[in-house]
Amino acid sequence: MSETLNINLDPRLLANELSSLHLINGALVPATSGETFDVIYPATLEVIGKAAAGDRDDVVSAVAAAKAAQPGWAGLSARERGKLIVECGRRLTEHAEELGRLVALETGKALRTESRVEASVLADAFVFYGGLGSELKGETVPFSPTMMTLTQREPIGVVAAIIPWNVPMMLMAYKIAPALVAGNTVVVKSAEEAPFAVLRICQIMNQVLPAGVFNILSGMGPECGGPLVAHPDVGKVTFTGSVETGKIIYRAAAEKLIPVTLELGGKSPMIVMADADLDKAVDGAVGGMRFTRQGQSCTAATRIYVEEPLREAFVEKLTAKVNKLKMGDPLDEATDIGTIVSQQQYERVTSFIEIGKKEGATAHELSALPQAGSGLDKGFFVRPVVFTNVSDESRLTREEIFGPVTCVYGFNGLEEALRLANDSVYGLAATIWTRDLKTAMTATQRLQAGFVQVNQNLVVMPGLSYGGIKQSGLGREASLEAMLEHFTHKKTIIINMT
Ligand code: NAI
Ligand code: MG
Repeated sequence: MSETLNINLDPRLLANELSSLHLINGALVPATSGETFDVIYPATLEVIGKAAAGDRDDVVSAVAAAKAAQPGWAGLSARERGKLIVECGRRLTEHAEELGRLVALETGKALRTESRVEASVLADAFVFYGGLGSELKGETVPFSPTMMTLTQREPIGVVAAIIPWNVPMMLMAYKIAPALVAGNTVVVKSAEEAPFAVLRICQIMNQVLPAGVFNILSGMGPECGGPLVAHPDVGKVTFTGSVETGKIIYRAAAEKLIPVTLELGGKSPMIVMADADLDKAVDGAVGGMRFTRQGQSCTAATRIYVEEPLREAFVEKLTAKVNKLKMGDPLDEATDIGTIVSQQQYERVTSFIEIGKKEGATAHELSALPQAGSGLDKGFFVRPVVFTNVSDESRLTREEIFGPVTCVYGFNGLEEALRLANDSVYGLAATIWTRDLKTAMTATQRLQAGFVQVNQNLVVMPGLSYGGIKQSGLGREASLEAMLEHFTHKKTIIINMT
């Protein structure tokens, strides 16, 4: 368990090395069926490797390994488990550059602005949770003077984690680190589009953790994720992805009456009051929209409400700023914006842009596509779009697009802004930009979202509970409470002293 892995900075070589493999019970193994599917670089459409197409048989092996390893893992002291998770974090830091390049290759997220950033914060989740082992404590309860009454936190058992492709490494980290520190063992199902960087992480963790504690499968949602959720020995599912798939998983979990954590989509509002610092708000919109990630973020600020006196100036500054972002080869250091992840997502995003245009909204299409002849002609590049003149009932206003598309609307007065902002089935994140304390405080109380910020737009941070209300999901991630509430059972114990 203690040997180290060489660092490999050529992501194509690494993708090739990791091709067609799962990690089950400490070993890299092909799918039982031998089936694989292509993984592409979305900037050129070259096939960079193959992913093992996991199915029910692989699920059975992985869950059996996790189940067998669980008592031994839970038998270590919580602090000992924590130390091992911190050691995983240390090794992941050593491999950060390699992981950044690999995730850029499989997802098309620009290396400098996105992929390297994801790789550099990844270890944080491990270090944060690794330090929380001793917080898995219970309580004593003053129930009766003649009875010693206490509660104790126990692991659930085998946890299934189903992850998406947009920030695959970080989202996996915030699921597995708390699950493992709490004494559970884990089976991850990676996203079809991005199986390699997360598999590499597992290979690195495998140098530190006992076999079976941690297992990862690649495969299609229904064929591999489905049997994983349904497996009788899986006691908890944690999922990030679409509302549609979240509901399928919730239904399957209901059949077994097991708990789920669901981090689903969003349609996050950003309210800019007339007294806001315009430049800060514009920067906040560019960052909050995750334009450099092609808007492929669940918290993306896709509904921007700007108070009328400021609206025109805001649109002018926003479009000028986004227009300067350089679109190009994701692996090129000069690139700000890479590609959409897949053909499916490319078609989805471009169809929304068409809908907006057909409805008569004004499309400000920004940044230039990579030059013809650059070898990137077939890539899934989409120009960022700022829409104005969009109706409140438009599908652009209602539905999650998951692309570089945002809408700017006007309003007058805080009441109108709050009414519009809260008029959504989603409730993940929201921001308000103002210099007035009362306005800011009122908005934080009344915005319907799991994560509300004033004059800034931060992302998931270790220590802060993260998650949505309404159709944005169930449960919280990234905090101590997330570990205690979502990855343990509470047992009540009474000792009669008479
Ligand atoms: P998805 O929700 O279908 O896929 C996410 C994960 O769930 C993948 O690992 C997939 O294989 C798995 N999955 C799919 N069907 C499953 C099933 N029946 N049982 C078990 N696992 C299953 O999302 P997809 O298709 O990649 O993207 C569609 C839309 O979802 C996006 O346009 C976006 O709106 C939203 N999305 C939201 C994310 C977020 O961060 N909240 C991340 C990715 C997508
Ligand atoms: Mg899907």
